[in-house]
Amino acid sequence: MAPKKVLRKVGVVGYGRLGQFLVSRLLAQGSELGLELVFVWNRDPGRMAGSVPPALQLQSLDALEERHPDLVVEVAHPKIIHESGAQILRHADLLVGSPSALAEQTTEQQLLEASSHWGHAVFVARGALWGAEDISRLDAAGGLQSLRVTMATHPDGFRLEGALAAASSTGPRTVLYEGPVRGLCPLAPRNSNTMAAAALAAPSLGFDCVIGVLVADHSLTDMHVVDVELRGPPGTTGQSFAVHTHRENPAQPGAVTGSATFSAFWLSLLGCCQLPSRPGIQLR
Ligand SMILES: NC(=O)c1ccc[n+]([C@@H]2O[C@H](COP(=O)([O-])OP(=O)(O)OC[C@H]3O[C@@H](n4cnc5c(N)ncnc54)[C@H](O)[C@@H]3O)[C@@H](O)[C@H]2O)c1
Repeated sequence: MAPKKVLRKVGVVGYGRLGQFLVSRLLAQGSELGLELVFVWNRDPGRMAGSVPPALQLQSLDALEERHPDLVVEVAHPKIIHESGAQILRHADLLVGSPSALAEQTTEQQLLEASSHWGHAVFVARGALWGAEDISRLDAAGGLQSLRVTMATHPDGFRLEGALAAASSTGPRTVLYEGPVRGLCPLAPRNSNTMAAAALAAPSLGFDCVIGVLVADHSLTDMHVVDVELRGPPGTTGQSFAVHTHRENPAQPGAVTGSATFSAFWLSLLGCCQLPSRPGIQLR
């Protein structure tokens, strides 16, 4: 007789585009994959009416332990990670969908401490970052000298804060920010997640040395474009190993998430449930 699949209980925090996609997949395919949706939380509960079964709607994040989740998936806003990430880790593994939150050192420290104390993993969704594993492997082998991630889209796709909110895109293509990812995350918390994932994939460079570039491009009305450029140290001939990937992801006008990123998140969720978890930050 085949061994019985261990059922993994999953909670979803955030019911926007990504949350709705993951919830519908969990409801449709969860049981055959050994996954049970145990709750959905959204800041505005009205948004769940009519599509999330009432018994699965969680009214308060403080009550999530009553649902005994094994994994909580955050697809809402970095604020949730700042405010509730450590608390969630008390009860379950956490898949962070908004890793720009980890640019704040206090948050990263709190998550690491809670993860080690409670024995739960902090998974980070690679999202729109192409080649995350290759970057990690090169970094671990000491072969990464520079990493630069450029994200370009139409200005309507940006949700900017602070000094960047006031910045206007003057020409057809304007560089809004170019510098360490750590400085960009608080100014563009919802548009710097790919860069944050890159900083976490390359801990030798991290948030202070991975360079993020945010570009407003009026021609990209229905597309998010992410370029990843990396270099190794010069070899004996003076030449360096170099890689440049260019990812064009169709996106609904004004959306912060491109279409291909939805399936990347679903695969991250499955990846969190298929392997045994251990404390610490791990890219999925
Ligand atoms: N890692 C990546 O590469 C990547 C890619 C795409 C999106 N994301 C992130 O995933 C998250 C969800 O993306 P989406 O496309 O579903 O966005 P969305 O705008 O469609 O939905 C966001 C949801 O979170 C809720 N929300 C917004 N601000 C909140 C707050 N301060 N507190 C609690 N809830 C809040 C909204 O009500 C909404 O239900 C965003 O943070 C986004 O930046 C990450």
